[in-house]
Amino acid sequence: MKIAVISPNKSYLQDIGRTLEAQGHAVALVDGGKLSLRAAAEQEQPELMLVDGLYCGPSELLQVEYISTHHPVIAVILLCSPQTPEFLINAMRAGVREVLPSPVDQEALVAAVSRITAKLTGARTQNTGKVLAFMPCKGGSGATFLATNLGRQLARTKSVLLIDLNLQFGDALSFVHEGAPASSLADVAQSIERLDASFLAASSVRISPSYSILAAPEDPARAMEIKPEHIEAILNLAVTQYDFVLLDLSRTLDALTIKALDRAYRIFPVLQAGLPGVRNACKLQTLFKSLGYAPDKTEWVVSRFEKSADIGLDSIQRTLGVARLHTVPNAYKEVNAAINQGNALGGSGRSSAVAKSLAEFALSLISPKPGESRSLLERLLRWA
Ligand SMILES: Nc1ncnc2c1ncn2[C@@H]1O[C@H](COP(=O)(O)OP(=O)(O)O)[C@@H](O)[C@H]1O
Ligand SMILES: [Mg+2]
Repeated sequence: MKIAVISPNKSYLQDIGRTLEAQGHAVALVDGGKLSLRAAAEQEQPELMLVDGLYCGPSELLQVEYISTHHPVIAVILLCSPQTPEFLINAMRAGVREVLPSPVDQEALVAAVSRITAKLTGARTQNTGKVLAFMPCKGGSGATFLATNLGRQLARTKSVLLIDLNLQFGDALSFVHEGAPASSLADVAQSIERLDASFLAASSVRISPSYSILAAPEDPARAMEIKPEHIEAILNLAVTQYDFVLLDLSRTLDALTIKALDRAYRIFPVLQAGLPGVRNACKLQTLFKSLGYAPDKTEWVVSRFEKSADIGLDSIQRTLGVARLHTVPNAYKEVNAAINQGNALGGSGRSSAVAKSLAEFALSLISPKPGESRSLLERLLRWA
């Protein structure tokens, strides 16, 4: 793998260079600080950048964020100490793959680089993205807000396609983007014989280099053109192209929705902490059981959550018989301002309660594979 190492400390730079070269990597040593990041990315075009010498404050991450936005193919490892949980979350949001202590010991460095090599080569040969389905237990529960904004968070380090399966009145795109889509799911369905990676990408709206949305048709009448077999073909292809395929579903339980739920790795039904939401959640739970889904396929999300709600998390957990729930805090003003401007929440730097909870939610989805010790997530959990 081609690796650029950046550090203001010359002897440290040489040490790291020797360690990595001994592992068979092509190493470019860049003597400098954070301001060398951009030039190093452009000149060296590495697959991995190891960055030492940041003092680990939030403003330092702007340089890193520039790299992950403009050079999404470059993986970034930061070497710095000390590391607070907040810094680790911000680092993940800025697109950093790993944060290692500085000075790093050889063994930890080699292990982290091989984890990333395995991930990158694995991604090139056999990418099987995870399909995550988001479904409101009741209209207006916050499922679309969650799916679209989680997509944005995941896309900081992963490639993400969100497919709007609210076929008649889908509005997912408008949550994070201004303007109408040039083409939609109905156009893909209509020319399904042309379906390949470039047609799928060209039919989706590119929100950022690693986040795209395949919009629902603008004309509700065109919903009828979309059949379950189209969804099957699109999902078969999408999981080979993206790390995460998010499905924004409606509450309509038809053949197409069930096809999407069947294909999902996880289903996230979204409810508000009130009687109607909980009642519908129970109905959905019965349906999922009758469809033969394992209990751990479903993870329940309480959206617009407030500690003072009449129905507490404990009682929802007891009613649904589940050990844990995800929560998204209630933040009417902030959420609606973002929706009305067609912007995602949670750009780095700002950290409201909702943005934080989405960042943590995203982290919980990017779970390490077995054997991947000392990952960002693992260390965060240890801090918690
Ligand atoms: N976390 C939240 N806090 C406050 N209001 C929210 C939140 N999430 C969603 N909303 C509000 O609820 C409305 C419906 O959300 P939406 O995601 O479209 O629901 P669904 O897709 O479940 O029908 C949004 O327009 C917004 O006004
Ligand atoms: Mg919706």
